Amino acid sequence: MNYFDSIERIANVSEFHALVPAAGFGARMGHEIPKQYLPLAGQPMIFHALTTLCACTEISTVFVVLSPEDTQFQKYDLSRFGDKLQPLYCGGETRAESVANGLLAAELEPDDWVMVHDAARPCLTLAHLDRLINELRDDAVGGLLAVPVADTLKRADAAGRVQRTESREQLWQAQTPQMFRAGLLAHALQQCKNVTDDASAIEALGFKPKLVACEPTNFKVTYPQDRVLAELLLSHASSVAK
Ligand code: CTP
Ligand code: MG
Repeated sequence: MNYFDSIERIANVSEFHALVPAAGFGARMGHEIPKQYLPLAGQPMIFHALTTLCACTEISTVFVVLSPEDTQFQKYDLSRFGDKLQPLYCGGETRAESVANGLLAAELEPDDWVMVHDAARPCLTLAHLDRLINELRDDAVGGLLAVPVADTLKRADAAGRVQRTESREQLWQAQTPQMFRAGLLAHALQQCKNVTDDASAIEALGFKPKLVACEPTNFKVTYPQDRVLAELLLSHASSVAK
């Protein structure tokens, strides 16, 4: 590729992809099947995020990173997702490893944008995605959806009593999608494997990801009560849409 081709590619042709790590088990959910497959508002939980990501016209491909032992995913009728959906059976021991393996298998162009989104965040909307893409498409680093911390924060001592109150000023809770250039993110995750989100690996390289304000409704389903709340939100959203 010559210099002018490469400038043109960066300016015009960089694509947007989604990558959904879905190779965890959901130990904190305490169920006998992986939480991403638990029923939620009439569908397996993972279908909600996949439906939204596949419906986003800016996104070319939606990669789903599954455990190599996963036998569940292919049992569903996936035709509704069309050609955008690409399952990859290369999940690892941790979320970071699953994302790193997925990026390798997806073979994206280094300058393409990739939006990494947890399978366990079913309440993502097209409006959230639009905000993320529009805030970051011209950004040098990339960034993530997040919400400013709303509650007062207490630090506990070993006995579970308040040691002190922490300032919540300028504190945000990280969500997903987290959107970075595929090459930079793959490099960051090779360097830094002990992270619980993608932005942390980018930060470890010295970059400052941009915080894009989202809503608390884009929460992660971690405990059984989160599933009840997600069910209520999704049922409400579908009744409003009718
Ligand atoms: N994930 C993954 N590979 C792993 C661990 C997690 O792809 N080895 C995915 C999960 O499937 C989930 C996302 O990363 O979509 C966020 O992780 P989390 O909510 O922690 O899910 P689990 O690890 O499955 O749950 P737990 O920590 O309670 O076991
Ligand atoms: Mg986990």
